[in-house]
Amino acid sequence: MAFAVFMSNTNTPSVPLVVEEDYVPEYKSKPYSHVVRILLILIIVGVVGVAVRAMVLPKSFGEYGHYRGTAIEDEMKRPIRNGTNASCLACHPYIREMHMEGVHKTVSCEFCHGPVADHVKDGKVIAKLPKKQGKEIKRLCLRCHNRIIRARPKESIKMISMPQHLEQKHVRVDHNCNQCHNVHAPLMWVKEARAIVGVEEDSK
Ligand code: HEC
Ligand code: HEC
Ligand code: HEC
Ligand code: HEC
Repeated sequence: MAFAVFMSNTNTPSVPLVVEEDYVPEYKSKPYSHVVRILLILIIVGVVGVAVRAMVLPKSFGEYGHYRGTAIEDEMKRPIRNGTNASCLACHPYIREMHMEGVHKTVSCEFCHGPVADHVKDGKVIAKLPKKQGKEIKRLCLRCHNRIIRARPKESIKMISMPQHLEQKHVRVDHNCNQCHNVHAPLMWVKEARAIVGVEEDSK
């Protein structure tokens, strides 16, 4: 009896309250109907997905690769803002000399000063480029020379840790990089720096 009451609480199959010995419930739906329903949903999602993709996909997609082909033309239309070091050297001969002879000869002027397009247009100076001053200089140098940047291989660029670098040179930690290093040729003044810190021959 307990079994019969239990069964009556479920919706399918509907069973009489009193179960006879050889009663076999009659299922209304086929045993695989849930699979059919899931497949139907998947097919609808697939068809709608393909239709939406066809509607929103840019025409040139896939022309050259897995991206919009006309993106290349869009990029080419953008004005060129950087001009490499060659674009600075003619007008700044004094800095050119220092920079070309120093250890920073491979470093781009524009990395530290910004793009030439903000400075010169059609051969005429239209605005000054910013130059970092004070604490900002320290931040600028450490963008490349900070030992904390672990992912950079040691042999690719010499790195220091702060304030240990200054402590080793026996100066106050608020000393700025350009008090000892010429920003354009960082080792140019090191002789003088050595005199300041009282060390004749350092590591080299
Ligand atoms: C057409 C010549 C010309 C070119 C090319 C040129 N400069 Fe200049 N630049 C000048 C002149 C002239 C000044 C001084 C502007 C002033 O004092 O108003 C100047 C000023 C500067 C200043 C500011 C100096 C200060 O004391 O504030 C910086 C920094 C600078 N240039 C960097 C660059 C860099 C980097 C490039 C290359 C990307 C470059 N310049 C290309 C002519 C040029
Ligand atoms: C590592 C960063 C860095 C690079 C690379 C660099 N500069 Fe500078 N530059 C500075 C900083 C910082 C100053 C301001 C502080 C100073 O002069 O000590 C400066 C100052 C200047 C000034 C003003 C000079 C003055 O006497 O006031 C000019 C002009 C200039 N740079 C041009 C150039 C040119 C041209 C190049 C490339 C040949 C270049 N810089 C490369 C960081 C850099
Ligand atoms: C864009 C990255 C970059 C910036 C910013 C930069 N440097 Fe450099 N620096 C280099 C590269 C590259 C070298 C040459 C490779 C080397 O010797 O480590 C170098 C070399 C040096 C060296 C010589 C290392 C040696 O003993 O051979 C010193 C010192 C130095 N930089 C100081 C500075 C100072 C000070 C500043 C800030 C004004 C600065 N750097 C900003 C990239 C940079
Ligand atoms: C008191 C002067 C002084 C100050 C300030 C200073 N340095 Fe130095 N730095 C030196 C001397 C001296 C050397 C040794 C150069 C050598 O051995 O050829 C050196 C070497 C370096 C080197 C090369 C390290 C190596 O392993 O060979 C880098 C990079 C450097 N300094 C970056 C900086 C940066 C960035 C700052 C600012 C945060 C700075 N320095 C501030 C004096 C100074």
